[in-house]
Amino acid sequence: MPLARSLSVTSLTGLEDWEDEVDLENVVLFEVAWEVANKVGGIYTVIQTKAKITSDEWGENYFLIGPYMEQNVRTQVELIDPPNPAMRRTIESMNSKGCKFTAQCEEKPFIIGHFHEWLSGVGLFLCRIRKLPVATIFTTHATLLGRYLCAGSVDFYNNLQTFNVDKEAGDRQIYHRYCMERAAIHCTHVFTTVSQITAVEAEHLLKRKPDLVTPNGLNVKKFSAMHEFQNLHAQSKARIQEFVRGHFYGHLDFNLDKTLFFFIAGRYEFSNKGADIFLEALARLNYLLRVNGSESTVVAFFIMPARTNNFNVETLKGQAVRKQLWDTANAVKEKFGKKLYESLLVGNLPDMNKMLDKEDFTMMKRAIFATQRHSFPPICTHNMLDDSTDPILNTIRRIGLFNSSADRVKVIFHPEFLSSTSPLLPVDYEEFVRGCHLGVFPSYYEPWGYTPAECTVMGIPSISTNLSGFGCFMEEHIADPSAYGIYILDRRFRSLDDSCTQLTSFLYSFCQQSRRQRIIQRNRTERLSDLLDWKYLGRYYMYARRMALAKAFPDNFTYEPHEPTAAQGFRYPRPASVPPSPSISRHSSPHHSETEEDDERYDEDEEAEKDRQNIKPPATMGPVPDWRKQPKKPSSEAST
Ligand code: UDP
Ligand code: G6P
Ligand code: GLC
Repeated sequence: MPLARSLSVTSLTGLEDWEDEVDLENVVLFEVAWEVANKVGGIYTVIQTKAKITSDEWGENYFLIGPYMEQNVRTQVELIDPPNPAMRRTIESMNSKGCKFTAQCEEKPFIIGHFHEWLSGVGLFLCRIRKLPVATIFTTHATLLGRYLCAGSVDFYNNLQTFNVDKEAGDRQIYHRYCMERAAIHCTHVFTTVSQITAVEAEHLLKRKPDLVTPNGLNVKKFSAMHEFQNLHAQSKARIQEFVRGHFYGHLDFNLDKTLFFFIAGRYEFSNKGADIFLEALARLNYLLRVNGSESTVVAFFIMPARTNNFNVETLKGQAVRKQLWDTANAVKEKFGKKLYESLLVGNLPDMNKMLDKEDFTMMKRAIFATQRHSFPPICTHNMLDDSTDPILNTIRRIGLFNSSADRVKVIFHPEFLSSTSPLLPVDYEEFVRGCHLGVFPSYYEPWGYTPAECTVMGIPSISTNLSGFGCFMEEHIADPSAYGIYILDRRFRSLDDSCTQLTSFLYSFCQQSRRQRIIQRNRTERLSDLLDWKYLGRYYMYARRMALAKAFPDNFTYEPHEPTAAQGFRYPRPASVPPSPSISRHSSPHHSETEEDDERYDEDEEAEKDRQNIKPPATMGPVPDWRKQPKKPSSEAST
């Protein structure tokens, strides 16, 4: 099947566009990662979301290699017979040796092997040791030692230059893995990291400066109607509210309409992900909301997988009680409606005293009785296997956030990734994020951090930090990130206590916003989506592949090294209109509507238009090196 042979990459509107005709027919790309069709964390998201633009470019010459996991293969992979005979023979031979293989070449093409993270690095250095003609790229999404050091109580960023890396790796019993990671990095033709902060870390801990930073993108969904994502927020929020009704049964003494949903989500690395500082800030927020007599309630969700043996009874009961109330209300409503109808049919207004009978009252009393409970609503939705040593639970015990009636901040720990098939909270992660008000990701160690990026493209404000790749990227490209709902916590130049104070103030100010202000802010947040689209960020990967081919096959591909200035210098300006504050918001037109939401939408449309005119497009990678020589057959060995 003919391959899509030409690349056409267009940068953001108004930019100098470049179009590059490159013959890819004789080049094959293999991308290798442990998280191919195997969800562990963000690397899965990189591979999964990038697949579309990569296959658009490479067609059938693109292969993803990952671990064979029966369950994942069943749910995520479409098994096909490899159309290519050479590939078929290779796969048969691998299968006969016990190496399970699903996906699919002509005579000797040029090969690019793109390896992600240390686990796949073995393949990379074996390619090099065996002198295989493969152009190699290694992308690290975190350094092993960095993750371990940060998870301890080390002042990581102030000591980066001084760590005795071999000793530190040995002390943590990861020396063997560390060596594999370092070997892969030093063998590869092109080394990339997902952010500048990880580039500096790699330079010090792994002793090689990356050739390129390849920031993580997402597939940005564009809705035809501008406010569709706002409607989705309202719909998803209603589902979370329903869950909350069940979870807090018997204690629903707070106004759900004035309740804000905050959340943190990701792999359970308590301090690396900033769950520690989030809990402390929630305790302080609880105090502030109480002493200031705030009407707002915050429900903070912790979505971090831990070892459990399933949902706990009390939590399941909550949803059952809610369902029973719902069914009871519906049954009574049906009977009521029928009597009302019959009365109207004969031309009478109903006698209200006869509309409900004894049986109805008994049924309702029974349902109300079931809502009585003698304990606070549970913090944790599951039975934890390590309950007594669990860091989230232990911190909650210490700070005393027990979901009591007096608490204005309630906490729900859901130690499992979300799924739409859950009997408890049947929503997938995307739906959950859309229904929340604020994502809180105050990470200490976060090479990129997809979770706040995902919030952004869904128009949900988030808190990240200046120690996360995402936070630094946004700080670099937006003049006033917080005006767009991108709050960046300073964890670099402040003490832990000061950062916690800053986080508390972000949270508290957020609670003070009106609905109207939240709607404005969500619109602004969503407007930043383009910055994170693979459509633009994908070009860093293209560039890395070009560099690798030119380095590995210099007789066939040329490469003119230059400093890629990726979107350098570009900054989203401050929003054209004033920041959202009730005192300065105004009716900008005679179309004054009845509701504050509709009213605000009008202002926002106008503001969005001003912004569009004001925004200058980002610079791209500058000149693209000329590598358009037609590829010849590969030489038998890749050069170093
Ligand atoms: N995630 C998910 N389900 C959940 C919670 C999180 O699929 O219930 C995903 C989320 O969409 C994100 C990834 O987990 O893409 C976490 O990636 P991130 O880069 O934030 O952190 P990592 O875990 O890789 O350190
Ligand atoms: C969206 C919907 C509105 C709704 C609002 C609630 O904007 O389109 O109809 O009122 O969300 O916002 P809130 O921040 O209170 O959840
Ligand atoms: C790693 C990092 C995370 C990053 C992800 C994808 O798991 O911890 O910060 O977003 O890889 O690059």
